[in-house]
Amino acid sequence: MDSYAVVGNPIEHSLSPRIHQLFARQTGQTLRYERRLIPLDGFVESVEKFASGGAKGFNVTVPFKTQAHDWVDELDDEARAAGAVNTVLLDNGTSRGFNTDGIGLIRDLVHNQRVELHDKHVLLLGAGGAVLGVVHRLLAENPTRLVIANRTASKAQRLAVHLAEAYVNGGCEISGVGLGEVAGSYDVIINGTSAGLEGTGNLIEASLLRRAVCYDLVYGSSTPFTQWAKQAGAARALDGIGMLVEQAAAAFHLWRGVRPETAEVLAELMEARSR
Ligand code: ATR
Repeated sequence: MDSYAVVGNPIEHSLSPRIHQLFARQTGQTLRYERRLIPLDGFVESVEKFASGGAKGFNVTVPFKTQAHDWVDELDDEARAAGAVNTVLLDNGTSRGFNTDGIGLIRDLVHNQRVELHDKHVLLLGAGGAVLGVVHRLLAENPTRLVIANRTASKAQRLAVHLAEAYVNGGCEISGVGLGEVAGSYDVIINGTSAGLEGTGNLIEASLLRRAVCYDLVYGSSTPFTQWAKQAGAARALDGIGMLVEQAAAAFHLWRGVRPETAEVLAELMEARSR
């Protein structure tokens, strides 16, 4: 039976095995998909062992996406741009790295949630790995303005300069600021920071969230960011469960050549978490 896994640390709460089992059942595919806890200092050793055992591919989660990028033999454009890999395809001794996070976000936000990004003002919070994974796809939706705000302002500024050079003809005004310097008004605010309970509630001025669509790249029925967004009067407060399912669907398609139907899987996960 073809074998797949999600590798990370921690990994016990990953929903990926459930999602891929549902995709497999829906598309009539037979495969095994398991969680693999990898020691923090043992990425290469662990995945090489998994690969040499005949595995067909794996997903990569925190904190190994950069190491996966460095490990694979070949990179697709998105993974190269992001400097991070979340999906690996193993084929006849060759490993190919992809990043499906960006397409996962856009499929959920734009297609499932019907949130337009074209001609909109978008605020992206954070400038780390999570943001790098999605920012290129975001820009491909042609917002008018993209502000990247980060605790360490210089990191946001550097990223903004790099993106402005890369998308010089894109027609989007791109800038980078510190979290305390965010001004203006935004249609869509996306949280890509790893700030937990203690940090999220005061990332930026709460009035900025009023009437904005707020989206957390992290999933959970009530994340600190979505909770805060609701309190601040956001138009909508969405967590990343849909993005999780969509990035998984893109990985499944890469591995199996079949595109699963995501709506019913997402509905099942939403139902399970409301119980
Ligand atoms: P990830 O892969 O999850 O994005 P990362 O690359 O370490 O992890 O990036 C974490 C992001 O969350 C960064 O933008 C970080 O800000 P700094 O660049 O200033 O470190 C941000 N972050 C983490 N903890 C935070 C907090 N308590 N408040 C605000 N931002 C925080």
